[in-house]
Amino acid sequence: MSAEADAAGFPLRDLEEMRQRARDVLAGNDLGTMVTAAPNLYPHMWSWDAAFVATGLSTMSVARALQELDHLLAAQWKSGMIPHIVFSDVPGYFPDVERWGTRGASPEGVQSSGICQPPVHATLLRRIVERATAAGGEDARLAEEFTRRTLPQWIRWHAWLRSSRGGDGSGLLTIYHGWESGMDNSPRFDGPYSRVRPGKMEPFVRTDTLKVTDLSQRPSDEEYSRYLWLVQQMADVRFDDARLPGVMDFQVKDVFMSAIFAAANEDLAVLAEHIGLRGDAPRLREWAQEFREGVDATVDEQTGLARDRDVLAGEWIGLPTMAGFAPLISTADHSLLPRQLEIFEGPDWTGDPRLAFPLPASTSTTYEGLKPRQYWRGPVWPVMNWYLAGCLRRRGDEARYRRLREASLAQLMEGHFAEYYEPFTGEPLGSMDQSWTAAVALEWLADPDAADAG
Ligand code: SER
Repeated sequence: MSAEADAAGFPLRDLEEMRQRARDVLAGNDLGTMVTAAPNLYPHMWSWDAAFVATGLSTMSVARALQELDHLLAAQWKSGMIPHIVFSDVPGYFPDVERWGTRGASPEGVQSSGICQPPVHATLLRRIVERATAAGGEDARLAEEFTRRTLPQWIRWHAWLRSSRGGDGSGLLTIYHGWESGMDNSPRFDGPYSRVRPGKMEPFVRTDTLKVTDLSQRPSDEEYSRYLWLVQQMADVRFDDARLPGVMDFQVKDVFMSAIFAAANEDLAVLAEHIGLRGDAPRLREWAQEFREGVDATVDEQTGLARDRDVLAGEWIGLPTMAGFAPLISTADHSLLPRQLEIFEGPDWTGDPRLAFPLPASTSTTYEGLKPRQYWRGPVWPVMNWYLAGCLRRRGDEARYRRLREASLAQLMEGHFAEYYEPFTGEPLGSMDQSWTAAVALEWLADPDAADAG
């Protein structure tokens, strides 16, 4: 480590410093009722980021956490869709609301994108409610009041996903843009994107590459032109859900998002019961079951991994990416678990001895298309480590949860709260001071046993 790095305070000295630094990151990115996803690169609210940020905030203030979710819900479309970006007034991000062309399609006064992101919200709200209930008093009252008031909105969100994106009985949700998966340029989408041929389009200037200037860490220009083409295709039909299947060049059954949805339906059922609205729970549990089964049915017997499906090509997508572990999130079929866990801990994943930390990379580290520095083509994403560890813990797998926590805390000691990390060197990449990375650091640290992990 250089003397210069020392003077800047990296790496961190101990877990208490990590806690303080993570709090400072969230405070620094907080515009008041919205914590932006990152200070420069992402100056707005992203849907699934906001849910992770809210759990992190709840380690400090349940009221502030709920305000974050309220801000997101205020942008919900009439259809029930929660948009993937709620824009702040901060300039400098592309594509902005004008380029999205959502005015008129989004609710009056809302500035948002016109696509969705993985529905982690109910799962993370359940986490906040459990924390608030354990604390008792005002926190418990606030969380219960919030759940009672917003439950219909969360149910509408799930009902929209179920009907507009998963109504064909497959138990899998369709995405019409890689951005909807949250894993924009994962190799999972290379096949479907190769068939997207951008037509006549307004020229554009990217702003992401002005902020992350090492181009090897971001999607390519060619990828961006396809991303923008899909935005235009949606805007051309005024973001009309019923017309998307007829016009979109990209249509993928996203297995990872479907697993998240299955788990979130179960969590929403628990929340409904928590506030005494038992009548809603059976329908939510039916959806949970339908999507669990949909995810399990994608597992490739040969590889043991779950697969996406390219709808337009009628092909399975069986690449070794993190999405292959979707059953760890949702399955109730315990016969699938041993193989999934064996692969997860094997030499292609967290058991690869070359790794800086035994954490899952976004793409198998032995995959020939691995790009260890590039966004979702290889780097390790701290937020995913915490989410997956939480899924294992829910299954009672405390030992694996603790191992992932220990490795995650060790990784985060470098101190930048980066968006993603190079798997073999641990180098922080993408945006620094990324809100959801700071949020999950706070979550790991809020664990009662965290004190012995450093
Ligand atoms: N993740 C995308 C971006 O990089 C947008 O959702 O801007």
